[in-house]
Amino acid sequence: MKYYIGIDLGTSSVKLMLCDAEGQIKNTVAREYGVSYPRSGWSEQRAEDWWDAVCDAIPELLCGFEGRLVRGIGVAGQMHGLVILDENDRPIRPTILWNDGRTHRETAYLNEVIGKEKLFEYTGNIAFAGFTAPKLMWLRENEPENFAKIRKIMLPKDYINYLFTGVHCTDYSDAAGMLLLDVKNKCWSKEMLDVCGITERQMPSLYESFEVIGTVKRDLAEKLGLNPETVVVAGAGDNAAAAIGTATVGDGKCNISLGTSGTVFVSSRSFSGDEKQAIHSFCHADGGYHLMGCILSAASCNKWFCDEILNTKDYKAAEQAVGELGRNEVFFLPYLMGERSPINDVNATGMFIGLRPNTSRAHMYQAVLEGVAFAIKDNLEIIRHFGIDVKSSCLCGGGAKSRLWRAILANVLDIELTIPVTEQGPGYGSAILAMVGAGEFENVSSAADRFFKIKETVKPDRELVARYADRYEKYRKIYPAVKELYKEIKE
Ligand code: XUL
Repeated sequence: MKYYIGIDLGTSSVKLMLCDAEGQIKNTVAREYGVSYPRSGWSEQRAEDWWDAVCDAIPELLCGFEGRLVRGIGVAGQMHGLVILDENDRPIRPTILWNDGRTHRETAYLNEVIGKEKLFEYTGNIAFAGFTAPKLMWLRENEPENFAKIRKIMLPKDYINYLFTGVHCTDYSDAAGMLLLDVKNKCWSKEMLDVCGITERQMPSLYESFEVIGTVKRDLAEKLGLNPETVVVAGAGDNAAAAIGTATVGDGKCNISLGTSGTVFVSSRSFSGDEKQAIHSFCHADGGYHLMGCILSAASCNKWFCDEILNTKDYKAAEQAVGELGRNEVFFLPYLMGERSPINDVNATGMFIGLRPNTSRAHMYQAVLEGVAFAIKDNLEIIRHFGIDVKSSCLCGGGAKSRLWRAILANVLDIELTIPVTEQGPGYGSAILAMVGAGEFENVSSAADRFFKIKETVKPDRELVARYADRYEKYRKIYPAVKELYKEIKE
């Protein structure tokens, strides 16, 4: 018997899974942690808390299994977070997360003064507030004493990999989201390192996601009940790993994820992109590339509305109260943390419009789920501009468990959605990467194709599609109408 561990270092929790070499999930364990919001639009987490959660979870994951038979570990992680280590390899400050909007000045400088064309030439992307490079520029300006202490810069999952192996590295799929990588040519961009005032020595070394970076440190292996020969692969950004878990590999396949963030991910063998569209052009964990649109608040809107507004943990009951689809006067803009793609606006906030005396909580809840679906559609429309005709997509992430949300999404997007048997995309994908690294498979796509199984397909209904097309036309007009107002109220 051989086992593999896949770890998904998310924003609300870390989820670990134990698989056998046949891709069967033997056990799953999760540990939650909090996010701190020190100021409006900021979000941070302590890297040490992630590691404590991982170490706490592994013995439970292995309980009842022979830990020494674990052959490989793969870690997928929330992207873009700035982890900075001092000369003793300790985190200098809390990690500034992917959905933190504090860098609007630096982002504007990059897009407007350096210019989108140059940024695209250097990195294949334009700047967004959540990306890592503007965070470094913010740090240099606002916390020069911390900036001066930086010995290594890395991304969230790389910190976990470092503690497992002692190796400072990252992988191309995650590095692509730093705005420091020349994505097309897969090397650090000298120009962007200069813009941020850092050197290549401060950057981690680069690997493909499936490449082995080292083995678990001997004392740690002993402590956690693992074999010191267990290999650790470079792993991937969570979206690329999720795409591996849903066999979104090769050319033109689509995966939509409804996690804390929401993403539309289209795989490609070759690099594509342009500086005019606010869509990311990143490396994929299968060795190729992908296009991706990311909305900052997806399942987090659902969580917020149930936890904070309805004051309930019974999400099912909230769903059951929802009435007829496609007939709702209420609209919701899901911009709780500002928005990334396609509007790239840190000032945007969540907003309801269309309330009447007879509006119920159920109408508002339905509007929340629909608003997220419309924001996903905004991204799909841009991907269609690249000539990619998405007719079906896989759906994964916590939100994919909701039958209601799946139906809304399939009809808003007018595409068929396939729900995989294994819903935990990033964890499963990173376990697959570990299998490839350990030599079970020749390449990532053959492994991903071999394990992917569809549980269910959700087909759009012609009448609902028509109703939602009509509602989307109205939804699209709301943001442009309030865009300037958002700026004013913030100032
Ligand atoms: C992608 C992004 C989010 C995080 C969430 O660009 O920022 O999907 O990776 O974990």
